[in-house]
Amino acid sequence: MSPRFSPLVDRIAHDGSDPWALHWRARAAQAAGEDVIVLSVGDPDLDTPAPVVDMAIERLRAHDTHYTESGGRLPLREAIAAAHIERTGQQVTADNVIFLNGAQNGLFVSAQVISTVGDEVITFDPMYATYPATLRASGATMVRVPAPASRNFHPDLDAFEAAITPRTRAVFLATPSNPSGVVLTDAEVDRIASLAERHSLWVVSDEVYSGTAVDGRIPSLGARLPGQVLTVSSLSKTHAMTGWRCGWVVGPKAFVEHADLLAQCMIYGLPGFIQEAALVAVGMRHAAELEVRAFCRLRRDAFYRALEGVAAARPLLPDAGMFMLLDIRASGLSAAGFVAALYEAERVSALDGAVFGRETEDFVRVCFATDEASLLEAARRIRRFAGTLPG
Ligand SMILES: Cc1ncc(COP(=O)(O)O)c(C=O)c1O
Repeated sequence: MSPRFSPLVDRIAHDGSDPWALHWRARAAQAAGEDVIVLSVGDPDLDTPAPVVDMAIERLRAHDTHYTESGGRLPLREAIAAAHIERTGQQVTADNVIFLNGAQNGLFVSAQVISTVGDEVITFDPMYATYPATLRASGATMVRVPAPASRNFHPDLDAFEAAITPRTRAVFLATPSNPSGVVLTDAEVDRIASLAERHSLWVVSDEVYSGTAVDGRIPSLGARLPGQVLTVSSLSKTHAMTGWRCGWVVGPKAFVEHADLLAQCMIYGLPGFIQEAALVAVGMRHAAELEVRAFCRLRRDAFYRALEGVAAARPLLPDAGMFMLLDIRASGLSAAGFVAALYEAERVSALDGAVFGRETEDFVRVCFATDEASLLEAARRIRRFAGTLPG
């Protein structure tokens, strides 16, 4: 008999079949030279800025390849703190910053440090696809509060208030949201902050897409409730650096100290040459964000226009981010059926909205941060596919 695994393996297992299976199939077909258009992942079709790449190479050649202090080098944490102050108005220092292995690692570390077995953690449904396993890994129970299509995917904050129990420890949210692209309004952020304050909840605010919002600004939870908010962000989306794994959490000093101990037993320091390149990236954030914003805005509008009037795949215009939801309720298909049939017929890969929660079960998510020719061709194919559906 083989030795048993920890119960953790059940908590991090996918609920059903692997939601990314179609995406990886599409990627493999594309790599094999097939005429496939991949709209299933949020990886901007831009290059990492050249000065960032140059610095990484320079530091590699200078042998910056040894152990580094966990939690990130001081100049990098200072730069992240300065960028955070500039964006949110929240006064922080390097002591409030931990540099981690991407925003995903920041979410995982946050969940581990603030919640445990017996706790409840609230999230707004739909949510970024990794949240359920990330939260459950800590042992906590995830409680969904709807952000339904009928409210244009803004959260139902009365339902949020009603969902708070003595066991509630935290709320995890993303603004701008993936998949809906919704940016929480000032009024929503005020109410979430005041409920969190009243009930002593942590707020984990995932802001990886904030640079794609108008002027790169969104209403900030951190500025409203600095002692209880963990702001998670990264260079992945704004600097086309998804593969570099550069992210961070900004939060209270005590949180950072605990997170640093966790990072010591989990990561033991991130590569020095990557951190020096990240420092360059943070320094050139204005130019990088301007570029990604203009890129996303153009692609979003072009894709939206190209799909306007398609009843079986009705596009919904997002506030920010790099994704669009298509309302497929009139198609006569389930979202899983829609993405499978679309791929078979037209070799366009999109994601079944059920991956993000119950509220998007009748929606399909596409990423529009790709080159314009592929995007317009994808829209043509979706339109043609929709024309074949009886619904
Ligand atoms: C809402 C959200 N949070 C976090 C992440 C993870 O970002 P990172 O590449 O920095 O780990 C993503 C990536 O798609 C995302 O959409």
